[in-house]
Amino acid sequence: MAVKTTLDVFKVQEFVEALGIELPPVERFWKLGDATALRYRADGSFFRANYERGILLYALVAKHRPTSVLEFGTGRGYGCLCVAWAMRDCGIPGVIHTVDMVSSDEGIIWPVRWNESEEPRVELLARAEVWRRAAQSGWLEHVRELTGYSAAVMRGFNGAPVDLAFIDAGHRHRTVRHDFYAALRVAANSIGILFDDYSAEDWGLGTRKLIHEEVLPHRHASLILTDRRWSGGERENQTDASTGMVWVQCGSPPQLLDEIQSGFPRGLFASGYRFWEMWYSLRLMVAQRVRQALRATRGGSWR
Ligand SMILES: C[S@@+](CC[C@H](N)C(=O)[O-])C[C@H]1O[C@@H](n2cnc3c(N)ncnc32)[C@H](O)[C@@H]1O
Repeated sequence: MAVKTTLDVFKVQEFVEALGIELPPVERFWKLGDATALRYRADGSFFRANYERGILLYALVAKHRPTSVLEFGTGRGYGCLCVAWAMRDCGIPGVIHTVDMVSSDEGIIWPVRWNESEEPRVELLARAEVWRRAAQSGWLEHVRELTGYSAAVMRGFNGAPVDLAFIDAGHRHRTVRHDFYAALRVAANSIGILFDDYSAEDWGLGTRKLIHEEVLPHRHASLILTDRRWSGGERENQTDASTGMVWVQCGSPPQLLDEIQSGFPRGLFASGYRFWEMWYSLRLMVAQRVRQALRATRGGSWR
């Protein structure tokens, strides 16, 4: 198949409008984002970090009507809830399987703004309690949470073949690569894959490398310019195409895997990754225990 080796570039609003979906009022995405995706900077200011991903996910689900979605990286749940919201609104009998190493009852530092009338603040909250407050009726019936590191979780994955994946967990090249292969391995006859955090900056280099080395040589892909670029957003007029989200539609996923992996022995990458993941999780666990011990001896707070 002749494949274009550069990304087609779209502004997020154009891309979403071309899908021809009737969206809920955009203010509802901002409100859900303020509860589940707000971020803060070192100077104490808050910002709406790529709330466009929720609109994009909603529109993709409404358009393609996937019944089995796989998300790597639940985070605080904004993307996941937008998928569930679209399934609910569109009467799709689907499920989103969402993977994260952080469980839903673990308290984490959580920038939040519950209402436009309140100032944003930082709290210690667990996903489960925020979801109880932020999710609308019926959304959570579409959600299956899978707790653990992505390779460990995917070894036991028993969901239906996946027709849409959202790759947004670890952003190192090896992790994005693992999650991409894992999605292809459990894919239905065709799958749409959305990658977050394509960038020429440090945090997006892993995704960028994967897209250029392993996706574009085999399939068309679109770069969607997101992150505060919806109309009214603080970067609305920025057309710089070095950062965004990437959308790929793959027919025959096993064939794509064969094409990509033709050069190296099957299973080698997966077993190497499994070892790396065990070592990485061990390191994180030790670091967390040390932090807890230090906090306990100092009687410090979580901030
Ligand atoms: C950027 S957040 C996800 C945001 C979410 N997709 C959204 O749209 O709101 C990334 C999450 O991935 C999780 N994560 C990172 N590496 C992981 C791994 N190897 N396995 C499982 N979860 C991982 C982190 O705990 C974090 O919660």
